[in-house]
Amino acid sequence: MFYRQLDRHIQLRLSVPHFADELFQLTEKNRDYLKRWLPWLDSIKKPEDTRHFIDLQRHRFSKGLALHETIFYRGRIAGVLGYNLLDHANGIGHIGYWMGEEYTGKGIMTRAVKDLVMMGYHYWDLQKVEIRCGVENIRSRAIPERLGFTEEGTLRRVEKFYDQYRDLVVYGLLREDTE
Ligand SMILES: CC(C)(COP(=O)(O)OP(=O)(O)OC[C@H]1O[C@@H](n2cnc3c(N)ncnc32)[C@H](O)[C@@H]1OP(=O)(O)O)[C@@H](O)C(=O)NCCC(=O)NCCS
Repeated sequence: MFYRQLDRHIQLRLSVPHFADELFQLTEKNRDYLKRWLPWLDSIKKPEDTRHFIDLQRHRFSKGLALHETIFYRGRIAGVLGYNLLDHANGIGHIGYWMGEEYTGKGIMTRAVKDLVMMGYHYWDLQKVEIRCGVENIRSRAIPERLGFTEEGTLRRVEKFYDQYRDLVVYGLLREDTE
C-alpha cells in the first residue's frame, strides 16, 4: 500500500481495513485519555467498528472527499490523521488527528501534519488548510501554532461533546503563507 516515509521511524500509510485490529487495540488502551478530547469514543466498541470507520473513509477517499492516514512509529500503529473533509468548492482541507498517549512528546504529529498540509497543496491544489481544536486542548492547539497557522477565532458551542457542547478555536494556513 502507498506510504510516506517521514524519517527512519515515522511512516504514514493510507488507512486500510487490515489495520483495524491494531488501531482498535490502541483506541481501547487510550480510551480514557482520548475521551477527554474526542467526541466519538462511545461509538467505537469493537474492532468491527474501527473496520467499518476505515471502510467509510476509504470510500470517501475514492470520491476525493477525504484522506485517512495511519501513523506507524517503529513499525507499530501510533495514531491517525487526515483530511476529514476536502472541500473542493472552496479549496479548503479540514484536518483532524489523534495519537496514543505513549507516543506523544516526540514531535510525531507535528511532522505528520506538516506533511499532510503539503500534500493538500500539491495534490488537491487547496488554497487553505483548517484545524479546529477544543479551546482547552493546549497540546492540540500547539500543533497548528508550531506550524505557523493563524488563529482566526473561536466558534461557540459547535461540537456536541457527550452531554455538553464545546467551543472550538479555528486555525487557518493559507497556501501563500507556506511559499
Ligand atoms: C493532539 C496530540 C496529537 C498532540 O500530541 P503531541 O505529542 O503533543 O504532539 P507532537 O507529536 O507534535 O509532539 C510535540 C511534542 O514533542 C516535542 N518534540 C520533540 N521533537 C520534536 C520535533 N522534531 N518537532 C516538534 N516537536 C517535537 C515538542 O516539544 C512537544 O513536546 P511538549 O508539548 O512537551 O513541548 C495528542 O495530544 C493527542 O492525540 N491528544 C488526544 C486527541 C486530540 O486531542 N486530538 C486533537 C483533537 S482537535
